[in-house]
Amino acid sequence: MSDSLILQQKSDGILTITIHRPQALNALNAEVIKALADAIDDAQTDGEVQTIVLTGSGDKAFVAGADIKEFADFSGKEGRALAKQGQEILFNRIERSTKPVIAAVNGFALGGGLELALACHIRIASDNARMGLPEVSLGVIPGYGGTQRLPQIVGKGKALEMILSAKMIGAEQAASCGLVNDVVPPELLTETANKMARSIMKNSPKAVSTAIQAVLSGYEDGINGFDAEINCFGASFETEDFKEGTQAFIEKRKPKFSGK
Ligand code: CAA
Repeated sequence: MSDSLILQQKSDGILTITIHRPQALNALNAEVIKALADAIDDAQTDGEVQTIVLTGSGDKAFVAGADIKEFADFSGKEGRALAKQGQEILFNRIERSTKPVIAAVNGFALGGGLELALACHIRIASDNARMGLPEVSLGVIPGYGGTQRLPQIVGKGKALEMILSAKMIGAEQAASCGLVNDVVPPELLTETANKMARSIMKNSPKAVSTAIQAVLSGYEDGINGFDAEINCFGASFETEDFKEGTQAFIEKRKPKFSGK
């Protein structure tokens, strides 16, 4: 059953994962979360995949949040388990993906939907996208990492405004506060996300994944990001990609990276 809740398409190194639950504006229930987590996991070891683009089915929503109908009668214990499992099996795994994940935000990205986009490394939005964390309007708070990742991306002041007001913002406003990297008309969204993927794929896959790791380390408790960068930098010198990249520069040719 979970197969039909997400669609997957591979082309030229890009895996496009489309959340496909249009009747519920692609809301994240347990099955969608599991299917997405499996797809992200599989992509890590799939030699045909270099970059992942995540989007929503239809032209109305990226993801309208966690499935409100699924958790409406949960106890505190069940609520904690929902957030913990979701964070562990999906949101943290996306953020720690060794292959870059780009969110193509094609409409509403609310609650868990915005949190999903926040876990991705890059966000491109269509100009009709609407984003927000409306959880407090439901008497709950963001539970899939929104209270942590939104301030990291837009700063504490703007994040608190969005979280406490529960208001949605449009794509242009999202771009002006750094929440999304680019805004394009809906008909150009897929191509723009793919173009971003292609620009990343020109580089060493090994260095790209190491750079993700180095950036994330600065947000981890008890880890000194500068020390982590030194170690990651040093490790790069041991890779085939480093030899190839520097050799290609010296020989004035394009590098052919193996990703090793
Ligand atoms: N969960 C479950 N179903 C949802 C949903 C959600 N988050 N969002 C939309 N749907 C369903 C609606 O119930 C409706 O289903 P029915 O046709 O069976 O009634 C269908 O999708 C279409 O939605 P609407 O009729 O509401 O569409 P609209 O155009 O009038 O409004 C909307 C669109 C503004 C996005 C509105 O659907 C909405 O406000 N959705 C909820 C947004 C929200 O609060 N998200 C946060 C969820 S909590 C969370 O995510 C917690 C967390 O951090 C873990």
